[in-house]
Amino acid sequence: MTVHIKTPEEIEQMRVSGRLAAEVLQMIRPHVKPGVTTGELDRICHDYIINEQGAYPSPLNYHGFPKSVCTSVNHQVCHGIPGDKELREGDTLNIDITVNKDGWHGDTSKMFYVGEPTAKGRKVSEVAHEAMVRGIEQVRPGATLGDIGHAIQTYAESQRCSVVREYCGHGIGQGFHEDPQVMHYGQPGEGMTLEKGMVFTIEPMINFGKRHVKLLADEWTVVTKDHSPSAQWEHTLTVTDDGYEVLTQLPGDSL
Ligand code: MF3
Ligand code: CO
Ligand code: CO
Repeated sequence: MTVHIKTPEEIEQMRVSGRLAAEVLQMIRPHVKPGVTTGELDRICHDYIINEQGAYPSPLNYHGFPKSVCTSVNHQVCHGIPGDKELREGDTLNIDITVNKDGWHGDTSKMFYVGEPTAKGRKVSEVAHEAMVRGIEQVRPGATLGDIGHAIQTYAESQRCSVVREYCGHGIGQGFHEDPQVMHYGQPGEGMTLEKGMVFTIEPMINFGKRHVKLLADEWTVVTKDHSPSAQWEHTLTVTDDGYEVLTQLPGDSL
């Protein structure tokens, strides 16, 4: 396992990529409404990333992924492929943005409500957000990856939700997915010790029902086996002298 420790100059590059990824989520917000298709959302993000940001949408052609962003609706857990389906009042969806600017990746995702969400959709979205925040708050030099996973898992399970185990956060930099793997479950004190200059994502996928998932025939879209709603939030962050800096948080925004 090779964990790249980033220099201050490299982290400055990643601040730029992280900000751009966050700005795509901010830009797309007003477009998320009943009747829009996920394919249209993808096209708007694609054009913005290429033409306004002078960046590249990292998912496009990544291991054959056919679109520029991931859109995962309701019981879809992650890696949903944008398409012709129209969003409907009550849907909850995750839009996951990764941009490559000057060779450096920034990766962030959040939940959107289409009108008023279902009660279960709202609950699991809120739990996933708080789980991510609790994971982030563990980050400092000397803490371990297990501390992060444990904070996420204990909170999610205390809310009677479950943590998806098959997919995890990841180191990020000039590679989209670098070491280490950042599990969203675990035991305090276990796993790799965090060091200043590491950059990775925390991106828990939380299910309202059971944790088990399956892969659809398109070989990308992950859904819950029991069809219960799922939610995910993601930030890219770096370990600082005394804690963390979130690279995908815009000034004035909450996490
Ligand atoms: N952005 C996703 C992540 O958080 C990865 C998407 S890979 C893709 O790691 F190929 F599905 F786009
Ligand atoms: Co990621
Ligand atoms: Co992502």
